[in-house]
Amino acid sequence: MSEKIVEVVHLTKTYESRGRRVEAIGDLDFTIERGDFTCIVGPSGAGKTTLLKCLAGLLAPTSGSVEVHGKRVTGPPASMAVVFQEYGRSLFPWRTVRGNVELPLKAKGLPARERAEKVQRALESVGLGDVGDAYPWQLSGGMQQRVAIARAVAYEPEVLLMDEPFAAVDAQTRADLEDLLRSLWRTLGLTVIFVTHDIEEAVYLGTRVLVLSSSPTFVLDDVPVTIGAERSQGETRVTAQFGELRTRVYDGIQQAKAHANPAAKAEPGSLSRSAVSQR
Ligand SMILES: Nc1ncnc2c1ncn2[C@@H]1O[C@H](COP(=O)(O)OP(=O)(O)O)[C@@H](O)[C@H]1O
Ligand SMILES: [Mg+2]
Repeated sequence: MSEKIVEVVHLTKTYESRGRRVEAIGDLDFTIERGDFTCIVGPSGAGKTTLLKCLAGLLAPTSGSVEVHGKRVTGPPASMAVVFQEYGRSLFPWRTVRGNVELPLKAKGLPARERAEKVQRALESVGLGDVGDAYPWQLSGGMQQRVAIARAVAYEPEVLLMDEPFAAVDAQTRADLEDLLRSLWRTLGLTVIFVTHDIEEAVYLGTRVLVLSSSPTFVLDDVPVTIGAERSQGETRVTAQFGELRTRVYDGIQQAKAHANPAAKAEPGSLSRSAVSQR
C-alpha cells in the first residue's frame, strides 16, 4: 500500500538579486511515496540543488509549495535529514566523529545514554564503529562521507535527502558507498531522495528516476526502475534491462540539453509531452 510523504505542487523558484533574475525552477509537480528511492537527474544548472533546498525547507519557493504529510513546508521539517556533497564543510573539525554524529540528537533533546547508543549503532552501520574518537580531518574523504551518512541515519529521518553525496570520492569508494546506502535504505525502511548528475548511479540506486529539464525546470521523464531490489555492482550494471533504462535516462538528458534555449523555455509543456509519448 502506498502512502504519500512528499508532495511538490506547482513549485517555482526565481532568484532575484541586484537586477539579475534567474528562473531556476519553471514548474515542478511530483509526489514521493513512503519507501521510494527517488533519484533526480538533470544537466548541470538544472535546478537540482535548488529543488533539494526547497524540499528541505532551507529555501522558500517563489510560488507553489512543498508538502510533507499534507503540511506545507516553511522551515526544515523534523522528519528530514540532508547529506550534501561537500562533506568537508558539513562536519565540524573541532568535534570528534562521535560528537558530529551526536549533534542533531542533542538538538532533538534525547538523553545522553540514548544518544550514545544511537551514535554507536549508526557508526557501526556505516562500518566506522571504532573511529568515534577520531576527528573528521584524520579520516579519508570516503570515511568522512560515511560519517555524514551516519549522522543523518542516527537521526532516524523518515526522508533522507542527498545532493550529489558521492561526487567527490574515488570510483571504488563510490561503489561501496552506493551499496552501503542501498542496504541502509532497505534495512531502515527509509524514503530517499537522491540528486546526482550520474545516469548510471541513478539507475543503479533508484526505484525511480526523475529526469529534469534545463532551467526553468520541469519534469521531463519519470522512469520506474524495474530492476529487482537485489543489485550488485558487478552484475546489475551489465544486464540488458540496466542498459535500456540507462539509455532512456540518457536520451532524456540529451533532449534537456538540446532544448536549453528560449524556445523551449516559452513552451515547456510541449517538450514534456513529446518526451513521454516516445516511450
Ligand atoms: N543563490 C543563487 N542566486 C542566484 N542564482 C542562483 C543561486 N543558486 C543557484 N542559482 C542559479 O539557478 C540555476 C540552478 O542552479 P542549481 O540549483 O545549483 O542547479 P544544479 O544543482 O542542477 O546544478 C543556475 O542557473 C544557477 O546559476
Ligand atoms: Mg547542484
